[in-house]
Amino acid sequence: MTESKTGKPERADIWQQLKAHHAQITDVHLRDLFEREPERSDKYCIRIGDLLIDYSKHKITEETLSLLLSLADACEIKEKTSAMFSGEKVNTSENSPALHPMLRAPSTDNLEVEGTNISQLVYSQLSRIREFVQSLHAGYICGASGMPIKTVINIGIGGSDLGPRLVIDALASHKVGDIDIEFVSNLDPNDIAGVLERCNADTSLFIVASKSFTTLETRANADAAKNWLKENGCTDLSRHIVAVTTNQDAALEFGARDDYIFYFWDWVGGRYSLWSSVGLAIAIAIGMDNFEEMLAGAHTIDTHFRSQPAQQNGPVILGLLSIWYNNFFEAESHAVIPYDQYLRLLPEYLSQLVMESNGKSVSRQGEAIQHRSSPIVWGGIGTNVQHTFFQMLHQGTHLVPIDFLLPLKNETNPEQHMNLVSNCLAQSEALMLGQTDNTDPKRHFPGNTPSTTIAYSTLSANVLGMLIALYEHKTFVEAMLWDINPFDQWGVELGKKLAQNLSQELAENKGVKGEHDASTALLMNEYLKRNQP
Ligand code: F6P
Repeated sequence: MTESKTGKPERADIWQQLKAHHAQITDVHLRDLFEREPERSDKYCIRIGDLLIDYSKHKITEETLSLLLSLADACEIKEKTSAMFSGEKVNTSENSPALHPMLRAPSTDNLEVEGTNISQLVYSQLSRIREFVQSLHAGYICGASGMPIKTVINIGIGGSDLGPRLVIDALASHKVGDIDIEFVSNLDPNDIAGVLERCNADTSLFIVASKSFTTLETRANADAAKNWLKENGCTDLSRHIVAVTTNQDAALEFGARDDYIFYFWDWVGGRYSLWSSVGLAIAIAIGMDNFEEMLAGAHTIDTHFRSQPAQQNGPVILGLLSIWYNNFFEAESHAVIPYDQYLRLLPEYLSQLVMESNGKSVSRQGEAIQHRSSPIVWGGIGTNVQHTFFQMLHQGTHLVPIDFLLPLKNETNPEQHMNLVSNCLAQSEALMLGQTDNTDPKRHFPGNTPSTTIAYSTLSANVLGMLIALYEHKTFVEAMLWDINPFDQWGVELGKKLAQNLSQELAENKGVKGEHDASTALLMNEYLKRNQP
């Protein structure tokens, strides 16, 4: 990516101005901001297709916004966004572009990167997926014993699991056909054991989804699946295994047949991959038309993000607000609270997207950064969480900015749904306004908790695509403001390496060598003691 000539000093200067401004605004209560500016909700609101993003309940004034927008300018968000979309190597540490938006771009986009037509690559896999899904639903894809496939088990972890899991759960009402989808991700053998108990080997198909095809958990579970197939009399494993990967050789070596291997590419990060062949399980669950509708929703956000000026740009504004609380108010976490049962997996999905992307301490140039990066992302669904951690949000000591996600319509049970909407709005209002009780401190609610509400009609495939892409780009904006690379994840390597060594040592069963700390050695010895043959 082209380095800014002026970015750093300019950025430092605005950062200082924001600090000074923060000192002035920090004690201002949100209810005073609403009193001063009753038209805030018109001003601090963005509409994108069916989405309405209300960010008026934030501790910002016109001056705050103008400073934050200057920060976006100084950090060259627009230029860096164009760099990502045009295939520049924005993933600097791995010398790779980050072209996940191309996975949902129209075929006519025809982006060429280093002599490769990216759109053609993407569309060749999409049409293979369409064909495969149609054959599967028509009952033409059969197992070794000739019986049509009835259960698809996605084996993958991290980005090769959470995206498909989220989408299939969220779009359960869009299910097409009668194929059951199961997920196995954990190295804990109880995960796969529990799933296999529900499956019949004659009618099961395993999707082994792994960008690298070397991930320990996925390989262990894929081997367990193979053994199970053999134990259950399967005579041709290749009819029960599909591979989704960038590593063709490893997939072939594992035993997948050529026409059952679906590809994606190095320029698709694991946590940005649900739009690629990693979404095969999604396409099977909801059908190809719904899958493409989800891609179209994401593309709407891509177009918005690329073209809208910063002050009307959803991902830019959400990214700036995140920095405002994280770096100036020093909020440690960010809560995501969907008042939408279908989005119950969103907080977990976002915890990978945001924290694996932005949980870094060095800049894109490899220098130590001088400010906090990713907040802790957590949450749960409303109204359930009103009866769990909301006490802390109302009367605890932490400042936690919140995203509320709110579907405005439910045709099946509009009365009960109205209650749900009322609860969501009541919570964001109460958290913002608070309530003074001078006689009983237990009943005092300080309020002043900032929140964004993202409202939509109902969770269609299109809306879900928009929401996920919105969060992807918000995460990118945060990273650019912090000057970090959101597309690598070196932090997961050390633990992986140590686990490998430890595993070997435990397998040798010759006692613990002296290279471990006392605590680890104690626990290893205890394991060995309790696992004597
Ligand atoms: O946890 C690190 C990570 O590399 C994630 O980024 C990725 O989504 C996951 O592991 C799985 O990797 P793979 O798809 O290569 O199996």
